[in-house]
Amino acid sequence: MLCCIALLGACGTRKASEDTLKSVLADKFYIGTALNSWQVAGRDSNATAIVTRHFNAIVAENCMKSESLQPREGEFRFRQADEFVAFGERHGMHITGHCLIWHSQLPRWFCTDEQGNNISPELLRQRMKAHISTVVGRYKGRVKGWDVVNEAIMEDGSYRKSKFYEILGEEFIPLAFQYAHEADPEAELYYNDYNMYYPGKRKAVCQLVRQLKERGLRIDAVGMQGHIDIHHPSLEEFEASIEAYADAGVKVMITEFDMSALPSPWQSANLSDTLSYEQRMNPYVDGLPDSISAQWNARMMAYMQLFIRHADDITRVTTWGVTDGSSWKNGFPIRGRTDYPLFFDRQYRPKPFVEELIRNKES
Ligand code: XIL
Repeated sequence: MLCCIALLGACGTRKASEDTLKSVLADKFYIGTALNSWQVAGRDSNATAIVTRHFNAIVAENCMKSESLQPREGEFRFRQADEFVAFGERHGMHITGHCLIWHSQLPRWFCTDEQGNNISPELLRQRMKAHISTVVGRYKGRVKGWDVVNEAIMEDGSYRKSKFYEILGEEFIPLAFQYAHEADPEAELYYNDYNMYYPGKRKAVCQLVRQLKERGLRIDAVGMQGHIDIHHPSLEEFEASIEAYADAGVKVMITEFDMSALPSPWQSANLSDTLSYEQRMNPYVDGLPDSISAQWNARMMAYMQLFIRHADDITRVTTWGVTDGSSWKNGFPIRGRTDYPLFFDRQYRPKPFVEELIRNKES
């Protein structure tokens, strides 16, 4: 029933009934979404219906992270990832693997010994190679591209002091790209990170891209995650980074797009002091006020138009989830809030900007 509402809801006009996000964006870039395991397993059938109708690319929200795939050394658990890849193939979708080397959702055994001490550089190289070649090798020719390294650079351009960095220094990044390429020479390889519009991070990532290329290593694209909010960043800041990464010689992907409608804890000084912190930070439990919704939709539309303007450089725009109800933003950076960050609402209906995008496909 809800599914029918969602499909009908997409029809702002009669003409639009045939059109979908993927049909109107077909000559621009892939339009993708992250899938959770419920959606892959068909247990959220309304969401699955939206995915197959509107999207032509998928990425796994969690099941391909190292703690899921290799919770203990040498013990790989592929069931959910296999189902995810099979889902994509069944529906003829572009499949991205997320992610090979990341400091988060990383099992403890990977970088430390039983006493909690860092392992040797040699052992870490072996473990990285074993993990990457097993995972990439298993999906060779099926997963089209991998987020090889996720979130290794800070906003000021310095390297994140992760275990990988502590043990191997900057070298862990080229090594990861080398191992991934050896495991599937045809696969595209990406560097992925958030806050990619910060000038310091932009400069360091461009430098990283150039260094990898100078060393003859494959890197196809930079992923700008795109977890943004209703105020930040400006379109100009974001655009400057799209242009900078393209100038560095790679394609650009918007890999984890969502736009929080809620106050950010980092801007909480702007909010009234008369309400409790919880209420101030979670103000729209019963629905988004029309004025905020209008602002949110206008900004989303402006972002989509920005991406469309840069379609020569952008190969994929992927939303981090399908509907507001299942978005990770309800739990991050503050748990237990009601956020509205995605293209489809809690009732599985497209947001107004999605309908507009579909309606105005020729504009
Ligand atoms: C998030 C998932 O959405 C959550 O379900 C999980 O609890 C934590 O990770 N950057 C990334 C993603 O690269 O993998 C993260 O996904 C969100 C931030």
